[in-house]
Amino acid sequence: MDNEGRRRFLGICLGALATAGAAAAAWPVLRFLSPRAGAGSAAKVTIPEKELPEGEAKFFEFAGASAVLIRKRDGEVAAYSAVCTHLGCIVQWQKDRQEFLCPCHAGRFSSAGEVLGGPPPKPLVRLPFTVAGGNITVG
Ligand code: FES
Repeated sequence: MDNEGRRRFLGICLGALATAGAAAAAWPVLRFLSPRAGAGSAAKVTIPEKELPEGEAKFFEFAGASAVLIRKRDGEVAAYSAVCTHLGCIVQWQKDRQEFLCPCHAGRFSSAGEVLGGPPPKPLVRLPFTVAGGNITVG
């Protein structure tokens, strides 16, 4: 093998190594940010009202994906899919601002699920729920 051939071979090896390293570093981050699916997610989820104080949010698994219940400061309850409508990351509740923030591309949603800023094209998906007997049942 001449020098040019060795250089080319070395370049290919280094490129493959760099790609494998980048994939190994990115995989845990993607797993953390992507919606979870699979066993253990119920079609109905019941949460005691006392676990949701005013201004707080409670995240849970619903129908194979992340969902969130919030109780606004005026006492109103709302339930949404916690999956961002941009590229599917899981939103976070910003208690001090009373809005959702998507950590991936800084998409922001109001407590009504409406887009406040960033790239999300649509509001958060609302989930049906009922409140009875001190419990909130989603689904
Ligand atoms: S995935 Fe939420 S803003 Fe991009």
